[in-house]
Amino acid sequence: MKYLITGGSGLIGSEITKLLLKKNEDVNWLTSSKKNKIGVKSFNWNIYTNQIDENCFQDVDVIIHLAGAGIADKKWSANRKKELIDSRIKSTQLLFETLNLRQNKPKSIICASAIGIYKNQNDDLLNETSEIGNDFLANLTNQWENEVNKFENIGIRVVKIRTGIVLSKDAGYLKSVAAPAKYGLAAALGNGKMITSWIHITDMANLFLFAAKNEKMQGVYNAVAPNPVTNYEMTKQIAKALNRPFFLPNIPAFILKLVFGEMASVIFMSQNITSKKTEETGFKFEYLKIKDALEDIYKK
Ligand SMILES: NC(=O)c1ccc[n+]([C@@H]2O[C@H](COP(=O)([O-])OP(=O)(O)OC[C@H]3O[C@@H](n4cnc5c(N)ncnc54)[C@H](OP(=O)(O)O)[C@@H]3O)[C@@H](O)[C@H]2O)c1
Repeated sequence: MKYLITGGSGLIGSEITKLLLKKNEDVNWLTSSKKNKIGVKSFNWNIYTNQIDENCFQDVDVIIHLAGAGIADKKWSANRKKELIDSRIKSTQLLFETLNLRQNKPKSIICASAIGIYKNQNDDLLNETSEIGNDFLANLTNQWENEVNKFENIGIRVVKIRTGIVLSKDAGYLKSVAAPAKYGLAAALGNGKMITSWIHITDMANLFLFAAKNEKMQGVYNAVAPNPVTNYEMTKQIAKALNRPFFLPNIPAFILKLVFGEMASVIFMSQNITSKKTEETGFKFEYLKIKDALEDIYKK
């Protein structure tokens, strides 16, 4: 199989690339930057000027579409919100419009999506048919999935991976959350009861590759480990894995709202997501419990 990855230089993309290169698979990147990687052929696109190097599609079987500005990288100003939307919607539209005019098309597109699409329902178990939310993140993700669905109309298999909080050393969620814990300053957020549906980076990358190969998979799948935890438990386990104390009181919600503005909604999201449908495909999670995932991530 030959793979084309958009956003391949990011957290999930680089792990997928690493796994593919280990198996001597052919990998192309479609990148908005000048980033290169040994063993990967890089092609450029500019989603704002509709430019794309079509050579990137040569003999490609599967597109893994991850491109998108980082949701929690910057405060959500009006401009930033536009960038979060455009980087996902315009990139998907450019891929679609280009492929629509080509005779030879890849067989499948496996697209990142997010559990932020679901309505915040506290402790209720959410599955792929649960109600979609109506906040900024849910609307953005829903719009993104709708754009990806269009590939079905041109005979391309579509899989949307509704991704939970990806756990990886010094990147993504853990980069910011574990930083104070490393100095012995771990503290749960708000009331600490929010449910965090997480996934280890290795399982995340493996699931994308499993979906790429498994032609029976189609539609939406939750990418979360089978055992979500509360924010309090997550913080406690991070401190434990780092061999640091956990004694501070929770950080009050109003402080988080003051610091992060509307983006604090990501912190207060409580989503108890089930991985049942994903497991029914035959996919086996390597990391089922938060303790094991964090021990692996922080092992010496
Ligand atoms: N990590 C998580 O916990 C998580 C959770 C839920 C959903 N997701 C979704 O999964 C996807 C991949 O996540 P990730 O953590 O790997 O993201 P990431 O590390 O932020 O990487 C995303 C990649 O997208 C490209 N990109 C960034 N800004 C862009 C822009 N303005 N226009 C076009 N391309 C842009 C960049 O690749 P190039 O420089 O090569 O173009 C970047 O490396 C994202 O869409 C994210 O929303 C992630």
